[in-house]
Parts: sequence; structure tokens; C-alpha cells
Amino acid sequence: MIEPLLGEAGEARGWHLRAGGTSYVLALCKGRYVVHHHWGSAMAVDLPSLARLAAPPEGFGVADDLGDRSYSLNRLPQDYPWPLGGDFRSPAISAELVQGGAPALDFAYRGWRLLPGIPDWGGLPLPHDGGPEGPLEGLELDLEDGLTGLRLSLLYLVAPATGVIVRAARLENHGKEAIRIRRALSFSLDLPPSTGDLDLWATEGAWARERQLEPRRLGPGRLELGSRKGVSGHSSSPVLLLATPGTGEEWGEAWAASLLYSGDWILGIERSEDGGWRLQGGLHPELLSWTLAPGETFHTPAVALAHGERGLAELSDRLHGFAVANLLAPRWARQDRPVLLNSWEATYFDFDEDSLVDLAGQAAGLGAELFVLDDGWFGDRVDDKTSLGDWQANPLKLPSGLAALAGKVRALGLDFGLWIEPEAVSRKSALYREHPDWVLALEGREEAEGRNQLVLDLGRPEVRDHLLSAIVGLVEEAGIAYLKWDMNRPLSRVGSRTAGPGEARHRQVLGLYALLGSLTKACPGLLIEGCAGGGGRLDWGLLPYFAQFWLSDNTDPTWRAPMQDAASLFFPPLAITAHLSASPNHQTGRVTGLAARSRVAMAGNFGLELDPRRLTAEEAEAVRKDLSWYRSHRRLLQQGIHRRLGRPGPGGDWARLVVAPDGRRAVLLWMATPGRPNQGSVRLRLPGLRPDLLYTVTSPDLAGLGSPAIPGSELLARGLEFEPGPGPEPRALAFDLEATPLAGNSHG
Ligand code: GLA
Repeated sequence: MIEPLLGEAGEARGWHLRAGGTSYVLALCKGRYVVHHHWGSAMAVDLPSLARLAAPPEGFGVADDLGDRSYSLNRLPQDYPWPLGGDFRSPAISAELVQGGAPALDFAYRGWRLLPGIPDWGGLPLPHDGGPEGPLEGLELDLEDGLTGLRLSLLYLVAPATGVIVRAARLENHGKEAIRIRRALSFSLDLPPSTGDLDLWATEGAWARERQLEPRRLGPGRLELGSRKGVSGHSSSPVLLLATPGTGEEWGEAWAASLLYSGDWILGIERSEDGGWRLQGGLHPELLSWTLAPGETFHTPAVALAHGERGLAELSDRLHGFAVANLLAPRWARQDRPVLLNSWEATYFDFDEDSLVDLAGQAAGLGAELFVLDDGWFGDRVDDKTSLGDWQANPLKLPSGLAALAGKVRALGLDFGLWIEPEAVSRKSALYREHPDWVLALEGREEAEGRNQLVLDLGRPEVRDHLLSAIVGLVEEAGIAYLKWDMNRPLSRVGSRTAGPGEARHRQVLGLYALLGSLTKACPGLLIEGCAGGGGRLDWGLLPYFAQFWLSDNTDPTWRAPMQDAASLFFPPLAITAHLSASPNHQTGRVTGLAARSRVAMAGNFGLELDPRRLTAEEAEAVRKDLSWYRSHRRLLQQGIHRRLGRPGPGGDWARLVVAPDGRRAVLLWMATPGRPNQGSVRLRLPGLRPDLLYTVTSPDLAGLGSPAIPGSELLARGLEFEPGPGPEPRALAFDLEATPLAGNSHG
């Protein structure tokens, strides 16, 4: 709900954005500055409380308003600060006139309005009005710089069920001269000194070891996360997660910011002189230089802000709720995802039609529902050096064509899916020979290759049109149900024939959204999985288009489990795919038991990444059983409420509890620390169960459980105790929890 706080004459004094246990409060200071009053737990706000928001003077500060020396901008918590005034912290915006010097921006508040719906945002993703959770509400505040004529509009959207606040900024040139934008962040806000110490929960990583989570205490100065890769990157999604010291799954206050953007980004936190914190983020300013001619408009990417006062679990429940209700395409939001077998680690580039049909037949025999043909099916592709861009079947491997292969796969009872990397082109390809000027490159400089490939300039409509008709043609020709959309290189030496280097990188991302928007419109039933050399582009900007993401090429369960936990802080588990692969693992060489590989993968959107022909009869039977168990628990596992029970980092067992929204069913997945001697019995508290129910606990992996049923209150307070017994390393188990009412309890 958005509540304007009006003065006696009906003039705006502030706005209270309140939803889902969260308050976000804005105040107008001196009728001119948009000031951040509060973001956190819900609270009551009235006019006197806005008046209490003081901007105290500073000992060595500057009085920006000569008529009033009682305050200093450096202590004013502005919601979109600009530089060159008396606020000496990092600004949200910086711009100058292209001709004739660099006037200091100096905005003043002009007006406000409630929005009738979700605005169009210049081709950038915004949340959609989410179904059952109720429509988003919107507010815009206008500010203007009188000298340049630059108008700044701040957008706020409020999600009623989750309390998530979405912010973005729009710039319009109402002046007579062109303006160069050098920095235009999505948001900035100041948490007050009463917030106290904060830990930053950041990830770092690279290909095959994405998203290693590590909390650390923040101190003085500014700390910035980001990507200069043109894609959001393997090390971190564009997210900022802050929490009070000691925060765990069930306790502690936490704040999160997630950019709806897939290119170069920053998210920063800076300690203010008064001990408060300035949070901000958006487009990477070092890589942006955007000319805004008179009459033109520039939109920043949006950011989603979430708060929780009961630990990371509450925070990620809100983030998941928002991602499902407002970001995923409604068609996929609550749709069970098929169990697929992906051919990559089974065949790599070495296959023909017969071997693929054989593989698909084996996949069907194991219980898979979708067969995905990965890289190597097109042009002359026999390795990763050629043919990207030539999206027709490789005549040597698939002489009868894709449609014939897809038909044979469907005859086995499976849907057919395909890998594709549309943004890329190989120098050795018909497409490059025909259109060498379609690639991103810098005039007069050599093109740069990554994984032997170049990147197409998606800022150009003719390139997007070509790709759209090639992909739609494929989908229609072969009846494709699923695409794995890969992107295997960062952007370097980027220029475009239609835009300068300071614009080309952002225009590339806008082009990608435009292409994906057209594709999802043309093929609404197509399930698209995002991939970028594993998890190199996992961000909320792509969630409206990619209903699921490949998290990493590393499927070794001891690496994968913490990666999945880190991703699950922001991404709903049905959007993160996780595959049962072969042992030894193809990336780490580690030998692990089937149960560990399978139980860890079941915490995500489960699939297979192995060659069934290499399984022993006993292994194949175990995989068949696992798939059948997974399918019967799929709705719960993919759409239930997830609790991360493992300790992050080495040395802790990993466990995931998934509870149905009504608390009547749950699944527990557990994996021991690899190689721990003298394991003994395990005891795990199971937060999220209901104290008023009795739970019968069984396991497909351990016989003899199930009697007597255990009170939910005991599982919550004391925990579930079990003896894993001997088995392949690392030991891993699944448990089923089914509720029955406690005798005499009317809630039952
Ligand atoms: C990337 C992906 C892999 C696979 C290969 C194919 O690396 O992450 O899963 O699709 O490309 O070349």
C-alpha cells in the first residue's frame, strides 16, 4: 500500500510504502530533497514522525542553502543523491552538458503521482502484476535540474504480499543541449547509524566454481561488487545481501538488493561519517557514457529490495515469493518442470542420429521426460572452433535433419529440447562470412575471441530479426519444447557500428531483452533455460524470459550443494537446475556415491547429465527409482518452502528441508561431510514444520523408520535423529515426512 502523507494544504510531505511486514518511508525535506526515512520492519508513520527526520549540521560541513545553516547535505539521507553539492559520499547520478562545460547537477523536487499500472521501462525488465498475490502499486516522484533541463523521475513499486520494493530512475532531457550521462544508478539509500554493524554476504567464483558464499564484517570505506564482463558473471549474481552480525537462517535482520539486469553492474556499500550505511547499485558507471539529446529519455535498470527481520529464511521466502509471483512468466511460475536428460557429458561433440536415438531411448527407460541435444548439432561443428551462427542441422551427424530426430525422440515418449548460443558467432561460419560487420568490435582494433568466438551486435535490429526468424524456424520445424540458451564469453573490445563504446554494452543487453521478448511472444510454450558457461549469467533481469538457469558445469555434489544454497538465497529452487551426473565427476575428477549426487540434485530442478549406457544394471535401477521418487515429490520439491539446514563452508553436513505451504508434508535431503570418520548419529532440527502435527518419518534409503510418529514440536525443538549407517561416500539420504493430526487437536 502506498500512503501519501499530506500537509494541511494538501501538499506532499512524504510517502509510506507499506506491505508484507516492511515499511519504506520517504520524506520531503525543505520541499526540495527526497529523503530516505526508513527501510525495514513495518512501523507507524505520521507527519510529526517525518518532522523528526533531522538533517543535522556537520562540524566541517557545507550549508547548501544559504538561508538555512542548520543542516548539511552530507548528513541528509537522500534517496538519489547527486554530486558536487555538500553530500560528499558516492552519488547516484553524474551528468554533464556535451558542449559547454560541466554544470553541477542540482535537482529540486517537482511533483508526485500514483501510477495506474506498471509503466513501460524502455525495454528493460520490470516486474509484472503478479496474479494471486495482488497487483503491484506504483509511485513516481519528479525532480528537475533547472540549469540543464534534466528531469529525474524516481519509480517505486510495492509488492503487497512480500513487501519487496522495486526502484528505478528515468532521465528525460527537457533542455536545449545534449547531456552526457556518466553515472545513472538504479538506486541509492542510506541506512541510519542505528543499524549498527553489518555483515556482507557476498559470493566469489569462476567457471565451475561459481558463487562461493562468504560472510564478512564491514568496516570503514566503500566496498563494491560488480561485473565488467558484459554479462552478470560467474562470481556473483547482481545482488547485495547485508545482515546484522550473527544472522542465521532463523534469526537476524537482513536486507537484500537484486538488480534486474544482465550486463555490467555494481552494487556498493559505504560507511557514512555518522556510522550509517549508503547502499547503491545499477549500471557499471565506468563502462557507461550515454548521450541524451534534447527530448530523449534514458531508463536505468530496476532493483528489487527486500527486508526480513527473522533471518535469511524469511528474507529468501520473500525473495522467492516475489520472483515467482512477479518476475517469472506467469505460464512458468507454478508449472512443474520436466525431468530432462542433457546429452553434453554423455557424448560431447561425438554423436550421430542413431546414437542420439539410442541415448534418448535409455533416458526414457530411466524415467526422463525431455531429451536435450546439447552443443555440436549444427553447421560443421565437431569441436568448439566453428559454426556458431549456422543454426541448421550438421549434415554429417544428422543427415535426416532435426525434425526427423525430434520425431524419433517423441516416438519414445520424450519431448525434444535443443542447445543454442544465439548471441555468438564463430569466425569459421557462413554467418560471419556473409555478415562480418554484424559482430561487436572496436573500429580499427582487432576483434577479440573468447572460446574461439565473437559476439553478435544485438543492438542492431537486423541482427535480432535474423536470429528471431532462425530460432522460431527451428522451434517450429522440429517441434522444440525446450531451449538451453548459452552464452560462453565475456564482452571485450566492444564497439558497434550503431553506437559508441560507452553505449554499445548497454544497448547489447537491451537488444538481448528485445530478442527474448519477441521470442517468448512468438513461442509462448517454449521452456528456455539460461546458461552462460554454467552460471555466468544468473540474474533477475533474465527471470522473465528464462524460466530456469543452469547453475554450474560442476555437478560434484560437494561443490554443488553450497553453490545451490548460495543461489537459493535469491532464486526459487524451481528456477535452478541441478543434474545427477557421472562419477568420477567430469570437472573435479572426484568419485562420489550415486545417492549423494542424486539427493543434492533433488534440492533443485532435477535432471540427468550422464550416459545411461555406462551405468551398471544396479546403478540404472537406482536411478530409475530415484526418478520415480522425485517425480512423485516434484511439486513439493520444486514449489515448497526451502530451509537450508547445512552450515555453509567446509566441515558441515549439508541438508535441505522442503516443506509444503500447509506444513503437512516435507522432504529432508541430507549429505554428510565427505570422509568424516566416526560419523555416529545425526540430529537435525527441522524449522518450518508445524508443532500441532505428528509426523511419520520414512526414507527411501533407510528401512525401518516410520514408527512411532514424532510430534512436530519435538522435530522443531530437539530435532530428527537418525543413524546413517555404512554406505558409499559421501553418505546421503532422503526422508519423507507426512503429517497426521495430534490426538484431540482440532487443527488436524
Ligand atoms: C557451456 C555449458 C555446458 C555445455 C557447453 C557446450 O560450457 O555450460 O553445459 O552446454 O557449453 O559447449
